[in-house]
Amino acid sequence: MLGVKVPKKEAESVRKTLLELNLLDNRFKVKTTGDFVVFPVKERIEGFELVETTFEQVSKRPHSYREVVKVPQELLPLLPSSFDIIGEIAILELPDELTPYGKNIGKAILQVHKHITAVFAKGSKVLGKYRVRELIHLAGEQKTETIHRENGIRLKLDVGKVYFSPRLATERMRIFKKVQRGEIVFDMFAGVGPYSILLAKKAKLIFACDINPWAIRYLEENKKLNKVKNVIPILGDVRKVAGQIKADRVIMNLPKFAHYFLEEAMVSVRREGIIHYYGFSHEDDLFGEHEKKIKEIAKNLGREIKILEKRKVRPYAPYQYNIAIDFAVF
Ligand SMILES: C[S@@+](CC[C@H](N)C(=O)[O-])C[C@H]1O[C@@H](n2cnc3c(N)ncnc32)[C@H](O)[C@@H]1O
Repeated sequence: MLGVKVPKKEAESVRKTLLELNLLDNRFKVKTTGDFVVFPVKERIEGFELVETTFEQVSKRPHSYREVVKVPQELLPLLPSSFDIIGEIAILELPDELTPYGKNIGKAILQVHKHITAVFAKGSKVLGKYRVRELIHLAGEQKTETIHRENGIRLKLDVGKVYFSPRLATERMRIFKKVQRGEIVFDMFAGVGPYSILLAKKAKLIFACDINPWAIRYLEENKKLNKVKNVIPILGDVRKVAGQIKADRVIMNLPKFAHYFLEEAMVSVRREGIIHYYGFSHEDDLFGEHEKKIKEIAKNLGREIKILEKRKVRPYAPYQYNIAIDFAVF
């Protein structure tokens, strides 16, 4: 192969010239011999010392696991185009046709994503009062505990024991931006603390309740990990705590069942306080049913509400969305 040989001290300016002239052959690695650098070039070029030599090929790293995975050709279109990454753990949804190839898929993900150490497939929907799903180990380590980074905080959690979705990071940041310094916040369904720990940077005090003992255990750890003192973890059913707390802001991140807890939220918010309500809806009626329920409960309690914002948070299932409604209570 043809190379341009230059003294080391001229290498940078020659590299720029070769790039400008589009003569650098970037399929091969530049090599150094003694005090000289040799650039692989596409063709002869006047004014430089040309040498005949060999160059090492630049290894082309695959960008996606789909480029290296071993599954039958006809199943390639079924491979998931994305998956959740929680800390060092990848969790993906496999259609039934691909389950016999789960291990191959897991191995391919480990091969391409060097920071991932374990791969699991979703084994069920999010279930029960703890909102946890079953997981099927595909490849890598068997461990389910990890540390996830989002919005500048670190969250230790066990993906097999607690609920956590990295897809809500943007939503959590949206709420963070709304919180005013000095506020008291009630995180009714706190999990391991992705809202509470983040909001603690601005709010005066956060009451963080969860019924899952594992979630509260990790929340305690996450307070230490993030050097946060103004979060008060409460283990138990939020029904027993509601009303004893008067907060400026209430977060109801239990979209499947939040409508059953509206009374608890409204009796825990001070006048002019704000509730962040989450729900699931069909795209044909994103907010109507939820708004109706909110107004009905407020009326029963003799309170007025004002809707401040309604938005889609993320797609949840075909034609279904996770929605958010922010409202003030008077
Ligand atoms: C969808 S998860 C949200 C967790 C967390 N906010 C997050 O964003 O990761 C809902 C949480 O509510 C908790 N939970 C369910 N029912 C509850 C109840 N009656 N009282 C308190 N917590 C409850 C579950 O254990 C779960 O951790």
